[in-house]
Amino acid sequence: AAKPVTVAAIRAAKSATPLVCLTAYTTPVAEALDEASDLLLVGDSLGMVVYGLPSTIPVTLDMMIAHGAAVVRGARHALVVVDLPFGAYQESPAQAFRNAARILAETGCGAVKLEGGAVMAETIAFLTQRGIPVLAHIGLQPQSVNALGGYAARGKLAAEAETILADARAVTDAGAFAVVVEGVVAPLAARITETIRVPTIGIGASAECDGQILVTDDMMGVTFGHVPKFVRKYADVGATMKAAAESYAADVRARRFPAEEHLYGMPKPKIAAG
Ligand code: KIV
Ligand code: NA
Repeated sequence: AAKPVTVAAIRAAKSATPLVCLTAYTTPVAEALDEASDLLLVGDSLGMVVYGLPSTIPVTLDMMIAHGAAVVRGARHALVVVDLPFGAYQESPAQAFRNAARILAETGCGAVKLEGGAVMAETIAFLTQRGIPVLAHIGLQPQSVNALGGYAARGKLAAEAETILADARAVTDAGAFAVVVEGVVAPLAARITETIRVPTIGIGASAECDGQILVTDDMMGVTFGHVPKFVRKYADVGATMKAAAESYAADVRARRFPAEEHLYGMPKPKIAAG
């Protein structure tokens, strides 16, 4: 098996072979994705993907820790990064440190991710200077959906693009080892990638980013609702599951399942020697 991927290795991957990143929320899925991936993100997208919540806002620290620990148990190779959920870090650098330290200690993951640009620079510096590696997340920030009023792409207007570029610089200067760039117009993602010295990991951003990430359930076709434009569907696992359930239902109703090979019989009687 390949050596475990470190934070230092991710940071050093700038403009080398693109970084392969996917989300994971459970042990078996982490086991399935581990070899192919450089980084597995336990995203707070699990609120929508796993729990059917309307946004990432209601996701709790306890949920992130439970799923983070599950993913770490399934990953031997990829770096596991766990999202700090809404409300767990925005108050102060001290609050962010306390909760990020719990995530690191209780899951065994290698780093945390948090949303925010320049406003989070002080917090990112506070964490990274005290032993907690931080993956930054700029551009579209789903935890700010109530303030921003939707999930539309960012950076179409020049002023907004300059702000996002300044965010990228600020989180890099604060010590982030890489930056997720979500939902920004492609030329801006390319410009950010050219500008900062740590890898950019794009989602709905640009092929010129230093890596890509997708929500696994979206690209595997597990999610039944709306799938964003930037997702390429690599499998239709949802349809496979539906078909399996229908086959099982037909077998049970026709008494074709269970069959002889699935049954526990009584032990064969021993023939008395005589
Ligand atoms: O929560 C998540 O899955 C994420 C990625 C999409 C970047 O933050
Ligand atoms: Na997230």
